[in-house]
Amino acid sequence: MPSARIRRARCGSGSSSVTSQSHSDRRNWPIQHLLWSIQDMAGLSSRLRQRGCMGVFILGGVLVYWASRLPKVTPMKTAVFSARPYDRRFLDEANARDHAGQGFELAYFDAALDATTTGLAQGFDAVCVFVNDRLDAPVLRALHGLGVRAILLRCAGFNNVDLVAAADLGLLVARVPAYSPEAVAEHALALVMTLNRQTHRAYNRVREGNFMLDGLLGRTLHGKTVGIVGTGKIGLATARLFNGMGCTVLGNDPYPSPEFSAVGHYVALEELLARSDIVSLHCPLTPQTHHLINEESLGLMKPGAMLVNTSRGALVNTDAVVRALKSRHLGHLAIDVYEQESALFFQDLSGEIIDDDLFQRLMTFPNVLVTGHQGFFTVEALQEICSITLRNLCDFASGAECQNRVVAA
Ligand code: NAI
Repeated sequence: MPSARIRRARCGSGSSSVTSQSHSDRRNWPIQHLLWSIQDMAGLSSRLRQRGCMGVFILGGVLVYWASRLPKVTPMKTAVFSARPYDRRFLDEANARDHAGQGFELAYFDAALDATTTGLAQGFDAVCVFVNDRLDAPVLRALHGLGVRAILLRCAGFNNVDLVAAADLGLLVARVPAYSPEAVAEHALALVMTLNRQTHRAYNRVREGNFMLDGLLGRTLHGKTVGIVGTGKIGLATARLFNGMGCTVLGNDPYPSPEFSAVGHYVALEELLARSDIVSLHCPLTPQTHHLINEESLGLMKPGAMLVNTSRGALVNTDAVVRALKSRHLGHLAIDVYEQESALFFQDLSGEIIDDDLFQRLMTFPNVLVTGHQGFFTVEALQEICSITLRNLCDFASGAECQNRVVAA
């Protein structure tokens, strides 16, 4: 059984102090206040009736009718999987700030959601998950059997959810379609700048008293050509950054946008790969984009070019990339995502033996830089993620149409 820590989220005022009100009382307080108001009105009406004023009865009737038309927010128990301390902090803050009245009950589990941990969702109405939780058909069926009716993704990508199975089971799947695209774009730029000017190596060198510059030679980015594969929200934000640095920006996307055309030029993927000094991936992972970067596409890239992936690991065939690095054809690789990252990322494995030989091989290259899926990791992005996630939960609880619902294409 995986370790799990459960804690109730603070409801109501956000204070952790114990009050005489029960959880359900506090959850229903807006309705309670309305009822009290109606009761007050009824008391007043009896006094006025004695004075022969029937109009108050009519007003009371109108109020009761109005109250019956208000969206009813059902208390929601939500199991939050893969919960790190920052998830707890920002979800609790959003719950207290935006939903003080409803006070959603959030239980936090360190464990990732997969076939071995579905039992933890027993008694919950919804599960809240992240990029490496696995929601394939057997997991979704098990969750449905436990009474779960909503899947809330704390991310934009939904490649880890079997949407067809979810639809068959009548499960709501909702995501956070956009949260500070600039956060991811800025991280992509940080990777490029670090790898190009070797600041990660310079940092260590200088701390050891080594002030030699050998091995730190970079290239001036101004005037270089950057290819953006996927010119949606993050691709566009990345394109704007590189355009601002004086780079020529090329883009490839089946759905071209005028916003991108203002900063770059659309070309075919083959031309983008052949002309770009830096290729940055920003398209979603789909069956069509799986291993988009493979032996053949790597072969089309300019010798010595840099490949950047902050989107999803499986866009890249890592075996082929290792071969391209070994042959010196690929100049640099910067990745924030990795195909087999679910066994590694978001965990402290510093005292463990890492079994993934391919990942360990990547780590031996001086021209490879890996970060552990932290593109989204800014205060602003986390605030937006948690706020929108709870708004999705609110829609589910009240039966309102959820605009962030994800359905199978
Ligand atoms: P988006 O939906 O705004 O843009 C994706 C773009 O890719 C769309 O314009 C789409 O038409 C295009 N596209 C689809 N198939 C393509 C193909 N075969 N070739 C070229 N373009 C294609 O999504 P957004 O918000 O820009 O996010 C992009 C990806 O970034 C997400 O799918 C997610 O996987 C990843 N991401 C990574 C984060 C991190 O922390 N590293 C955080 C957030 C998102």
